[in-house]
Amino acid sequence: MSYHIVTTDDEAAIRKVLGIMLTRAGYEVSTCSQGAELLALLAQRPVDLILLDIKMPKINGLDLLVQIKREWPHIPVIMVTAFGDLETGIKAMRLGASDYLTKPVGQQLLLKTVDEVLHNTSGPQMHQTEQQLSEALSTLRDVRMGTLEAFSETLAQKDTYTKIHSLRVRDLAVAIGKAMKMSQDSLDTLAGGALLHDIGKIGIPEEILNKPTSLTAEEYEMVKTHPEIGVRIASHLSQLDPFLPIITSHHERLDGTGYPHGLSAAQIPMEVRIISLADAFEAMTAQRPYRDALPIEFALEELKANSGTQFDPRLVDLFIEEELFHL
Ligand SMILES: [Fe+2]
Repeated sequence: MSYHIVTTDDEAAIRKVLGIMLTRAGYEVSTCSQGAELLALLAQRPVDLILLDIKMPKINGLDLLVQIKREWPHIPVIMVTAFGDLETGIKAMRLGASDYLTKPVGQQLLLKTVDEVLHNTSGPQMHQTEQQLSEALSTLRDVRMGTLEAFSETLAQKDTYTKIHSLRVRDLAVAIGKAMKMSQDSLDTLAGGALLHDIGKIGIPEEILNKPTSLTAEEYEMVKTHPEIGVRIASHLSQLDPFLPIITSHHERLDGTGYPHGLSAAQIPMEVRIISLADAFEAMTAQRPYRDALPIEFALEELKANSGTQFDPRLVDLFIEEELFHL
């Protein structure tokens, strides 16, 4: 199979030299003197590899690279730079270039790099694999989100407050996560964990969940089983595994007096600590069947009073200093 390579350089001499070296090696070569010409060619016929000069008139090579990666992400690009600086090469690689070469380009290195890039990516096949992988990931994400929503909706049928509460806890927890500059993965865990944290309440009788007066000791013991019920429900679906620590431990306390396991501070992950704070704050400031919503100032005083025993002090400080409660 003959690969079709396009070289793009505004200097005719360089285009000619690169063209000769590649043609001799058995490649089919097209040459372009500027970006617009390259884009027109890409729109017309299949290309297996692009050699792209960084410094070109009108559209510079890096901007062109971004455009190529957006419209033809499967075509590998090798940047050719006269600058010889590592920084430009790295920048190009970050933008999606497969490799970069420095002018003057030697024949041996050129052919070796071209061969490696062509065989590492193997053109259309790789494109297909990438596309399938990205479709599979997006389906998995949809399934996970659908599952979360289905669970959350099931619980809402029984207990409307819990659904609203879970949505508010999610917003507060994600705001804390963002203020802590957590990764997108952790933010997703916080968001999903917040929606599911009280899923075990499905197993608690409605008359207890919606009781307009205080709970008896016996009823309270029953409510305290909801984290374990939640884990039993969620552990049937492996895709919910990242949320299990939040479901099981959101009522644990740093001083070890929480439930269901009385974990110590070191055993409580950061995501769980965040949900625990957001959960408590939201519960205090929400209207409940047995009492009116407490004022924000009162809830913040409660967080401070329980900082270090129930809540992580760094989170309490951040929550108050950054005024994350204003959602
Ligand atoms: Fe809970």
